[in-house]
Amino acid sequence: MIVVFAFLFSVAVITPASINAQGDNYVTSIIDGNCTTTPDQDILFNDHVHKVGIPLFTRSATSTYYGDGIIYCVKAINQQSEEVGGHVNITKGGVGHTFVNIEMKSFVSHGIDFRISIYGK
Ligand SMILES: *[C@@H]1O[C@H](CO)[C@@H](O)[C@H](O)[C@H]1NC(C)=O
Ligand SMILES: *[C@@H]1O[C@H](CO)[C@@H](O)[C@H](O)[C@H]1NC(C)=O
Repeated sequence: MIVVFAFLFSVAVITPASINAQGDNYVTSIIDGNCTTTPDQDILFNDHVHKVGIPLFTRSATSTYYGDGIIYCVKAINQQSEEVGGHVNITKGGVGHTFVNIEMKSFVSHGIDFRISIYGK
């Protein structure tokens, strides 16, 4: 069951949920870097970003980590379905860096709910 779940999220990363008018690719969830082995001792940062939807509005949030370890895996897993879950983007840093900036944006009238895990050493 967990394997199937992980597979679905990988598919979501490879296949953009939608393409906007400018042609930028937006993704539902992110699994970036080498996430095959993520021992607990390598966890640098955990975040749960949750904002409820407000009718006719878009919600957004930023999750930022600055540290010492070199990041090798970034996960920003959407807790909602592709139809309502909004988008996520790594806007600074990430794999190979010691910092990462992750921006999340909801669809109109919907909330955002992402679980973020950053691994490194
Ligand atoms: C991913 O990390 C594991 C554990 O550190 C390592 O054994 C494996 O070779 C790595 N895979 C890639 C594609 O770098
Ligand atoms: C994601 O962030 C990068 C870096 O800021 C930016 O160039 C890119 O346009 C963003 N992608 C989307 C879909 O917003």
